[in-house]
Amino acid sequence: MQANTHETRRIDAGEERRRRRWQMIRRLLQAFGWGVMLLLAVVVVAYAGFVLVTGAFPAPLRPSLAVHRVAISAHIVGGIVALAIAPLQLVPQLRRRGAAAHRWLGRAAMLGMLVGGLGGLAMAAVAYGNLASRLGFGTMALGWLTTAWLGYWAIRAKQVAAHRRWMLRNIALTLAAVTLRLWLPLLLKVGHLPFDTAYPLVAWLCWVPNLLIAEAIIQRWPRPSGVRLAHSGPATM
Ligand code: HEM
Repeated sequence: MQANTHETRRIDAGEERRRRRWQMIRRLLQAFGWGVMLLLAVVVVAYAGFVLVTGAFPAPLRPSLAVHRVAISAHIVGGIVALAIAPLQLVPQLRRRGAAAHRWLGRAAMLGMLVGGLGGLAMAAVAYGNLASRLGFGTMALGWLTTAWLGYWAIRAKQVAAHRRWMLRNIALTLAAVTLRLWLPLLLKVGHLPFDTAYPLVAWLCWVPNLLIAEAIIQRWPRPSGVRLAHSGPATM
């Protein structure tokens, strides 16, 4: 009887150790993923700032962007604000300890998305390529604005869990600015596709997989109550 109890305790202790080790590995992977996201966001913010100031857009896009200078500039300024803030909003420590900072950064990002999203929508109508690229960017711009709006209204209604879900989808769309600039060289240099074929593809590839990944993450979140979701769940995307 006593031997059985000892045996059970040893198994429990072993399971507890395994559980802790697994938790640590998960946290390390999340921190690594977040670090990569931050680095790529910083690179794209720097790139966007550079092309905004110099006008050195990718050659095929240059003639159209030169004509729509106001819309593209508004789009880039708003996009920079949203993309620079997005990784910070995912840090749980900042959300818990700096609730005021989270709110103010959130409002600034919303404003950025409103300006950047409306500019993006205008640019989508005249995007390089064909109907596929225009529809791809147009749907993405509408998705960006809609998820921001739904996330904002969820938190105004104190629905924390719904806010987190909409904002994760929204950040997945914000990160399309990063994934677009990973997909495009991949299709051009590795896939050897001509620009005119790659560009309409990228108008969809840059955001649809992001959204699917966000959905997969959301499915794994525990959802017994709004309060639990507010204080638990993954540290980053
Ligand atoms: C997520 C929603 C977004 C949509 C729907 C969108 C849409 C567009 C569209 C339609 C264009 C014009 C492309 C063309 O004329 O063919 C464009 C260009 C551009 N966008 Fe966005 N965009 C989004 C997010 C962002 C963000 C967050 C940034 C942040 C930095 C950004 C930075 C730029 C830049 C720099 C250009 C100029 C083209 C280039 O240099 O690559 N965009 N975007």
